[in-house]
Amino acid sequence: MKGIHVAIIMDGNGRWANARGLPRVAGHREGARVVRKVVEGAPGLGVGMLTLYAFSSDNWGRPQREVGGLMRLFRIYLAAETQRCVENDIRMSVIGRRDRLPEPLRRAVDGAEAATADGSRMHLRIALDYSARDALVSAAARLSAGATRDDFARALGDGAPDVDLLVRTGGEQRLSDFLLWECAYAELLFTPRMWPDFDAGALADAVSEYHRRERRFGGVPVAAAG
Ligand code: FPP
Repeated sequence: MKGIHVAIIMDGNGRWANARGLPRVAGHREGARVVRKVVEGAPGLGVGMLTLYAFSSDNWGRPQREVGGLMRLFRIYLAAETQRCVENDIRMSVIGRRDRLPEPLRRAVDGAEAATADGSRMHLRIALDYSARDALVSAAARLSAGATRDDFARALGDGAPDVDLLVRTGGEQRLSDFLLWECAYAELLFTPRMWPDFDAGALADAVSEYHRRERRFGGVPVAAAG
């Protein structure tokens, strides 16, 4: 893969909507619009993989009306964006559990993945019904004693590289069960901006900040070596 792996926890849709006297689902709808803009801008910023946290396994506990609205939104997004991803040479795939997704959404996921499988400019991964702890437990169950880090990384999924930059919008500073293994050495960036107020320019700022950071992976600064 060329380019960096950016992962985003898209938080703040509900507060954005509340502040405007709108239902939470209106915040998610606005959030979907931002997803389109960010996906459009990301390849030009040197992003080779973009993983978006759209629905965590703990989100099933939200009110039925909100969960239903989100599932519908995901289906509409996948159906509408598939062609655009094909045209833009973007591969789209979904990580997380599939068996609890509504059947029409599952079909939309299968269709989007099949149609965009050859995309090589960027790989967009959408995390739906995702839990990093569950992913780790199921990877461990498939491995035998003596498994290496590489075996583990492979068992975890689609051969995705480690996350280089993790961005969380909405002001909270936590990982919320997202890509716990893959973020071992990720640079973390937390912004108070609510997700509906994020855009491709904000992603460009985040990527610039990432390039200013010195990644040491447990080593010492280059100037101090020797
Ligand atoms: C967290 O904000 C956001 C979500 C649980 C849903 C994220 C979904 C989208 C951005 C919609 C579209 C996504 C795709 C991939 C089409 P929150 O509701 O927890 O906000 P709050 O913390 O302000 O309540």
